[in-house]
Amino acid sequence: MIQIKDLSYSYDSDIALRNINLHIEKNTTCAIIGPSGCGKTTLLYLLAGFIDYTEGEIYIKNEKVKGSRKETGIILQDYSLLPWKTVWHNVALGLKIRGISKDKIEKEVDDILHELDIHELKTKYPAQLSGGQKQRVTIARTLIIKPDLLLLDEFTSALDAMTKENIQNLILNIYSKKPVTIVFVTHSIEEAVFLGQKIVIMEKAKIKKIIDNPYFGDVEIRSKIDYYNICLEVRRWLREGKTYENN
Ligand SMILES: Nc1ncnc2c1ncn2[C@@H]1O[C@H](COP(=O)(O)OP(=O)(O)O)[C@@H](O)[C@H]1O
Ligand SMILES: [Mg+2]
Repeated sequence: MIQIKDLSYSYDSDIALRNINLHIEKNTTCAIIGPSGCGKTTLLYLLAGFIDYTEGEIYIKNEKVKGSRKETGIILQDYSLLPWKTVWHNVALGLKIRGISKDKIEKEVDDILHELDIHELKTKYPAQLSGGQKQRVTIARTLIIKPDLLLLDEFTSALDAMTKENIQNLILNIYSKKPVTIVFVTHSIEEAVFLGQKIVIMEKAKIKKIIDNPYFGDVEIRSKIDYYNICLEVRRWLREGKTYENN
C-alpha cells in the first residue's frame, strides 16, 4: 500500500527526516512512536501530501504521492471541527464537497452517527461536546468519505485515560469490521502496542527499529502479560536513545 524509499526532508537547515525506508502492507496498521521533534508529524504530512518532498520517493498504491489524495483520511490532534456547524453538518461536509445528492448524504450521515454512537448529538455544536465526543465526530467525519488510508496524528493525546482507551477500542472495532490501512503517530507506548501491527520506533529523523506485533487485534490484550512484554520492549528501544543522547 505504502512504499517509502530513501526519503529525506529538511526545513531550511533543520533536517527533519533522514533516509527513511518503510513498507506498509494494505489493510495493516502501523504505529510511529518516538520522542518529540524526531520527525513523526513531518512523515505523516508527507504521506498526506500536505508538504512536498524533494529527496526520495513515496508511493501509495503504486502511485507517486503528489499533493493530497481524496481517498486519504486524516485526523489531527486538534479535532479540526468547524465550531459554527453542528455535529451533523460537520460530518456531512466531506460528502457535500464531493457533490453527493442530498438523500444519500442524509442516509450516510445518519448511518455513521449511529455506528459511532453519537446520533443523539447531531444538533449540538463542537463547543458543547466532551473531548471524547469531539474525537468521535472527527472520526465519523473522516470515515464518511470511505478512506482507503487513515492517517492519525496523536489522536488521543488530549483525552483522559479511560476516554483514550474507548477511542482506541473504537478504532480497533472499526478496523476489525472493515479493514483499512492505518498509520498513526503516538507518544503512548500502550497505544502503539494496542493498535499497531507494526511499530516503528523513531529517533532524531531516523527509524531506529521496527517491531512486528503478533498480539495486534486482540481487544482483551490489555489484561494479558504478553502485551506488557511488548510494551517493555518498545520502552527499552525508546530509552536506549535517551541514554545515548545524554552521554
Ligand atoms: N514548520 C516547520 N518549520 C521549521 N521546522 C520545523 C517545522 N515543523 C517541524 N520542524 C522541525 O522538524 C523536526 C521534526 O518535527 P516534527 O515532525 O513536528 O516532530 P514530531 O512530530 O516527532 O514531534 C523538529 O526539529 C522541528 O523543530
Ligand atoms: Mg508531532
